[in-house]
Amino acid sequence: MISITILGTGNVAQNLFEAFLLADGVEVLQVVGRAADRMEFFKHRTTLVTYEEKLDPTDIYIIAVTDDAIREVSDKIVTSGLVVHTSGAVGISMLETHERQGVFYPIQTFTKGRILDFFKIPLCIEATNENDLKLLHRLGSSISSNVVPIASDKRRALHVSAVFVNNFTNYMYTIGAELCKENQLDFSLLKPLINETVEKLDFLDSFVAQTGPARRGDLQTLHTHLSQLKSKKHREIYTLLSNSIKATYPIKKDKS
Ligand SMILES: NC(=O)c1ccc[n+]([C@@H]2O[C@H](COP(=O)([O-])OP(=O)(O)OC[C@H]3O[C@@H](n4cnc5c(N)ncnc54)[C@H](OP(=O)(O)O)[C@@H]3O)[C@@H](O)[C@H]2O)c1
Repeated sequence: MISITILGTGNVAQNLFEAFLLADGVEVLQVVGRAADRMEFFKHRTTLVTYEEKLDPTDIYIIAVTDDAIREVSDKIVTSGLVVHTSGAVGISMLETHERQGVFYPIQTFTKGRILDFFKIPLCIEATNENDLKLLHRLGSSISSNVVPIASDKRRALHVSAVFVNNFTNYMYTIGAELCKENQLDFSLLKPLINETVEKLDFLDSFVAQTGPARRGDLQTLHTHLSQLKSKKHREIYTLLSNSIKATYPIKKDKS
């Protein structure tokens, strides 16, 4: 049995808690949080502890707090056990006050109140010694079919990539929704298009899958779109992305 403490009560803490609850050979002994109202989700399901209280010893301590608070929370833990964080962007050395350090980073977007099935979520693990890497592999395999050892520099590169494919893409949906609203259009008209954009990646490389006026070199359409956009911010983003696509797919001049 692997015993665990989860520190943090947000999106990742809640999702990991639910996943470990269903896992064989893992027990979440305690969840540590700052405020009683934020711990409501875990109430009557495990022991709830505040940062001022003494923690029971566990095999692993999972710090699932905001990136900027990882060091502060890590420094509050007194243990000879394995201490890990769940961030894609923070190096393992942030936990340097502990002898046994690790990372347990799930590549997914988590939102409070939405519990996901971990089975297909890739888990990036890292540890400062071989035995702890094995322990994290065992822990990860209890909830996911895809556990991958990845060092801090590679994980950080993966995280930047994740920001492009997830955070920036989602922001594009927000702009699309704003434009629909301005023109009294229903955003759900775009949902089949959004779904197909993602689904075709199962059999096409994104480079090959690119379509649109910038990809085709339809300059007249690009100018018309720009003249339709009322917001300066939207025009800047449209121009930046279109120029980047045009540079990626230079249009061959007809030799005749
Ligand atoms: N969300 C994702 O999609 C995702 C995916 C992969 C990895 N991660 C990583 O997972 C970690 C947690 O992300 P999240 O999305 O779960 O964040 P979140 O929902 O915003 O929750 C953040 C947690 O950090 C706690 N916290 C903030 N400052 C603190 C401090 N000074 N001392 C103690 N606790 C503090 C908050 O406590 P209060 O509630 O009391 O404010 C809250 O429990 C981050 O390292 C993030 O990079 C996130």
